Amino acid sequence: MPLTPSSTRGIPETGAIPKHIAIIMDGNGRWARKRFLPRIAGHTQGVEAVRGTIKACIERGVSHLTIFAFSSENWRRPAEEVKLLMQLFLVALEREVTGLHENGVRFRVIGDISKFDPKIVDFVQQGEALTAGNSRLNFTVAANYGGRWDIMQAVRKMIAENPDSAANFDEPDIARHLALADAPEPDLFIRTGGECRISNFLLWQLAYTELYFTDTLWPDFDASALDEAIASYRKRERRFGRTSEQIAGQQENKNTVSNEDRV
Ligand code: IPE
Ligand code: IPE
Ligand code: MG
Repeated sequence: MPLTPSSTRGIPETGAIPKHIAIIMDGNGRWARKRFLPRIAGHTQGVEAVRGTIKACIERGVSHLTIFAFSSENWRRPAEEVKLLMQLFLVALEREVTGLHENGVRFRVIGDISKFDPKIVDFVQQGEALTAGNSRLNFTVAANYGGRWDIMQAVRKMIAENPDSAANFDEPDIARHLALADAPEPDLFIRTGGECRISNFLLWQLAYTELYFTDTLWPDFDASALDEAIASYRKRERRFGRTSEQIAGQQENKNTVSNEDRV
């Protein structure tokens, strides 16, 4: 897989549309509770919000969307909720993959889904194969995913590929084995539901991502909520360790070669 240069080196233009948006979809349970509904009703409504977000990302020219659907810690929930979430995932796969394909979306799952029902694994593999040639939007679902797991599996792959690397390796040696190795690092991270934490999502890849937290509960997240998040992102100056003056200078003269690029 080709490796996209780390966005912690390149400087996206201030005011640009984020290329890669990563979302923790939180607040489904509270959305349901407010309506005196079972928690699963919130998750079901959450699938609708995902559909709307995919459409809105395509319309806005976002090239990568990564969503957190089930964390490696979510197994700790009551067995009944876990079962219902798995059923919902299966139904969503059955219903949505064809539509994704028709809309030019490339679908992928990251995380250790070997622990899921084999039917889910089958649908995921079929969906990934069907949509592999699409490039309008790279849509990735993180399922049984954990950021620490991702780093560990990358290190294991690196060593399996070249045992000598255990004694001598660099960031790129790990990065190219991470689950999202071929995607640019997320520019914008969104978490709905009011909690201000990362919850073991893309730990490595979020190193320099702009973080955005909103109280909106995930089932209520729509195109205008996405626009608010993007508007917040576009106001920010991404410096990646540099000074504001350096960034202003680089924006003025895109052809200037930075010290970092010379080394
Ligand atoms: C997020 O919503 C969806 C999953 C974790 C699967 P929650 O289920 O965490 O909703 P709250 O946080 O209880 O409201
Ligand atoms: C994070 O949501 C994981 C997903 C959205 C899938 P949680 O609601 O499970 O997060 P914590 O555990 O409360 O931080
Ligand atoms: Mg939650």
